[in-house]
Order: sequence, then C-alpha cells, then structure tokens
Amino acid sequence: MLNSAAPIGIFDSGIGGMTVASAVTKLLPLENTIYFGDTAHLPYGDKSTAAIQSYAIKICNLLLQKECKLILIACNSASAAAFELVKAYVGSKAQVMNVIDPVVDYVKEHYPGKTIGLIGTKQTVMSNVYKKKIMDLDRHIKLKSLATPLLAPMIEEGFFDHSISEKIIEAYLADSSLDDIEALILGCTHYPLIKPEIASFYQGKVEILDSSEIVAKSLKAWLEQHYLQNEKGMGHRQFYVSDYTRSFEESTKTFFGEQIQLEHYPLWE
Ligand code: DGL
Repeated sequence: MLNSAAPIGIFDSGIGGMTVASAVTKLLPLENTIYFGDTAHLPYGDKSTAAIQSYAIKICNLLLQKECKLILIACNSASAAAFELVKAYVGSKAQVMNVIDPVVDYVKEHYPGKTIGLIGTKQTVMSNVYKKKIMDLDRHIKLKSLATPLLAPMIEEGFFDHSISEKIIEAYLADSSLDDIEALILGCTHYPLIKPEIASFYQGKVEILDSSEIVAKSLKAWLEQHYLQNEKGMGHRQFYVSDYTRSFEESTKTFFGEQIQLEHYPLWE
C-alpha cells in the first residue's frame, strides 16, 4: 500500500530531468520531491544499456530507502535502457513512470497519419524505442529520427541561448533526415532548455513537443486516479548528485529560484 504523504523521486543524468521536475512541482506544488542527478556518469546517451541499467538500479535503491511512492525516470536514455528492468526491480514498492509513454500517447492523439521527427541521444535513437511504440499504435505515423549527441553535454555546460549552441542546433536540424516533418519530439529531457532556439529554426512551421508538461500531466492523472496526491505536503525539495559540479548547482538555482542545497551521494558506495 503506497503512502500519499511519501515523496516523488525523480532522476536523470544531470540537469535535464529538472525540466520535468519543475513542470511537476508547478502542477503539484504540495508534493515533496527528491531529485537525483547522476552527474558522475553524464552523459548517459553514450553509455551502454548495461551501464545505464546498473546506475538506474543504484539510484532506485536510494529512492526506495527514502520511501518514494513514485519514481519518475526523467531521462529518455534511461527510460529506453532501463524502464522495464527498474519496474520489475521496484515491484509494488513504488509506481515507476518513464518520459516516453506519455509523449507516445500525445502523438497518437494529435498526429495520426503524419510525419514527425525525433531528436535524442544515441542511446534513445538507436534503441528504436519510440519507433517501436509508435508503430504499435497502428496510426500510420511516420517517424524520422536523428541522434544529436552533442546537445546534452553542451547544455550541461551551460551553452544555451548562445552563438555556439545556435550553430550546433542549426547543423543538426538542417540534416535531410528531418525533412518534411510536422512536429519534432524533444527526445531528451535536456532539450527543453534549447526549445526557443529550436523553435526559431523552424519559425513556427513545426510543433515542438516538449515532454516535460505532457509527463507532469500524466503523473498528476495517475496520482489522482490512485488517490495518492499529497494534499498536506509542504512542497519540500531535496537534491542529490553523484558528483558535485558548479554548473549543476547554478542550474538548479535557475530552475527553482531559491537557495538549494545539493547533497553528494556517490553511487558506488
Ligand atoms: N536527459 C537525458 C535524456 O533524456 C540524458 C542526456 C545524457 O545524459 O546523455 O536522454
């Protein structure tokens, strides 16, 4: 039996998952959250499936120790590589959600018969997870994918809204493999941070699908359906990192606009 007063655990390789965490806290301000940024192993997008699975299990051990009622894998690469394993591992101790299924549901409703694009890490794109799930919808949706491995490390280093990021984004999006799309899935939770630059490339001709709000809404709906919303919470937030980085601390402050404290939790201990 899950406890509505328990926190929601959210994890990513770094700051990307905060785009989802901040959408969750905006929609559910009373929920207590625990965020884990696995900065020691960033970027996940270039790691093997086995490596990401082992990081994810270690992070879940911490989140289960903290008695989280729900664990949100706020990372496409980890959702692609480890969702099924984490779900089996966690069992009935917590609900496990990923950032891919809510987006696939959105596409099913809004883009039947259309051609859409996907950008993400190598892990996400090469796993073909979006392709398989979208094909299973049987809605005749054509997916064109492109791995964009420079983007997550670039964002993690604070390069967004910058002439360097603009050039890199332009070089990727101009690739012919993304021609003729009507919408673009931001298949990495870091990418909402460069959404304005992506939107300016397409000049309003392509809808940019930012998973953070879609995922936050689906998480809220699940809590409501299961009577697990925390109505008496204080919106308390805790942040853990596997390796302290200054840019992570700065970004966390930018996201949550307050004095936050990062706790160091090396995963190998
Ligand atoms: N934000 C992550 C994702 O959604 C991971 C990026 C990375 O660490 O490579 O895929």
